[in-house]
Amino acid sequence: MAQRVILAVEDMHRLASQPATDDAALAAAVARLSDLYTVDRQALAREQASREHLDAKCGYFLASDAPKVVLALEEAAARSPLFARLATLEHVRVVDLGAGVGATSCGFLAWLAARRAARGATTTPRVELIAVELGEPAARAFEQAARAAAAAAGIEVHVTVEARDFRGFRLPAADAILCQTALNELLPQDRADPVHRPDTVDMVARWAAHAPLVVIEPALKSTTRALMALRDALVASGVAHVVAPCLHQKPCPMRAKPDDWCHEARRIEPTPRVAAIDRIVGRRDGRALFAFLATAPGSADVTPSTGAPIPPTAIRIVTDPLGSRGKTERVVCRADGELRLMRLLDRESRPGNETFVSAERGLAATVNPMPANDRIGPEATVDRLPPCPDRA
Ligand SMILES: C[S@@+](CC[C@H](N)C(=O)[O-])C[C@H]1O[C@@H](n2cnc3c(N)ncnc32)[C@H](O)[C@@H]1O
Repeated sequence: MAQRVILAVEDMHRLASQPATDDAALAAAVARLSDLYTVDRQALAREQASREHLDAKCGYFLASDAPKVVLALEEAAARSPLFARLATLEHVRVVDLGAGVGATSCGFLAWLAARRAARGATTTPRVELIAVELGEPAARAFEQAARAAAAAAGIEVHVTVEARDFRGFRLPAADAILCQTALNELLPQDRADPVHRPDTVDMVARWAAHAPLVVIEPALKSTTRALMALRDALVASGVAHVVAPCLHQKPCPMRAKPDDWCHEARRIEPTPRVAAIDRIVGRRDGRALFAFLATAPGSADVTPSTGAPIPPTAIRIVTDPLGSRGKTERVVCRADGELRLMRLLDRESRPGNETFVSAERGLAATVNPMPANDRIGPEATVDRLPPCPDRA
C-alpha cells in the first residue's frame, strides 16, 4: 500500500514534467545534488533551488526519501502508543518543517494508508498538513505531491503551505511534527565533528516538547553525529524522551568513538524510476541510508508513552556482520545503554539464534539468555522484539 502511494506521486511528476526529463539528465541532476549534500555543502543553499535540482527532487528524491519516513514511523509506532494512535485518528494534524517538495508528508500519508489498511479501517481520515518551507518553488511543488499521495491513499487532505523560515515559526497544536533532511542545513561547517548551535538545540527541544517528533537526517558521519548529540541534549533536558531508534534513555554510547555514527541501512523496494536512476549513478546496494530520531514529549520517567518496559535482554543491531572468519560479529546497542560486540560462532548457529546473522542492520531483538561474555550460545534464542499488543 505504501509503495502504491509513492508510485502515484512519482507518476504524477513524470506526467507533469514538460518537456519530459530523460533518465540520463535526471541522473546527472541527482548526482550533482548528492554531491552538494556530501562534499560541497557550502554551495547547497545557492544551488538547490535551481530548476534542474527541483526536477531531481521531484523526479527522484521524493520517491527515494518517502520510504525512510515510512520506516521511521513504523518503528516509532511499534514502540509508542503515541505514534501508533496517529493511525487511529479520524482527523490528524501534521506539521512538516523544511517540507521541500513533499517527500516527508507523502511518506506520512503512505504510512498512514498502509497502517490503516493493515488494521482493516474503512473510514476516510482527514489529514491536515502544515508545511513550512523556505524555498518557494519547492513549496509550490509540495501541494501537488501531497494531493497526489492523498488521492492514492484514499485520504482527505487539507494542505497549508507556509513559505517561510521554520526558525521562529509558532507551532500550531499538532499530532506529530516531522522534519527530514532540513536540520543539517543549519549545521555549522566549521569543524570535522560539528554540533548544532545552541539556538538550534533549543528550537528542536521546543518541537519535541510540543508533539511526537520524527527527525530524519542524511546518514553522513557529520550530520548523524550531530543528531546523536542533539538526542542526548533533548533527553538530558527532560523535555522529551526517545521512542526510536534507541531502546534506552542513557547517553548515546556511540558518541564516545569519533568514527562511529548510528545510521540505518534498510532494504526497501525502490520504484522503477528510482531503480533506473540508481543504476545510472551507480548507487551502492539499493538500501535506504538515513539516520533518525523519534521522540515523545516529557521525560521517560514521568510519561508512560513507552508503555510496557523494554526487556533487559533487548538489543538493537547497529552494524552489518563484520566479516569475521568462522563467526558472525555485530555491534549491538543494549537496553542498558551499553555498546557491545556480540558474536555467534558458525558452528553454534541454530534456527533459534540465526536471526543474529540474517537480521538487517537496525533490527531490535531480544537475546535469551543474554550472555555475560557477549557470545551467543547454541541454546540462545534471538527473536525480533515484538511491538506490544496495544501498539501492533
Ligand atoms: C533536503 S530538502 C528536504 C525536504 C523534505 N523534508 C524532504 O524530505 O524531501 C531540505 C529542505 O529544507 C528547507 N529548509 C532548510 N532550512 C529551512 C528553514 N530554516 N526554514 C524552512 N525551510 C528550510 C530547504 O529549503 C529544503 O527545501
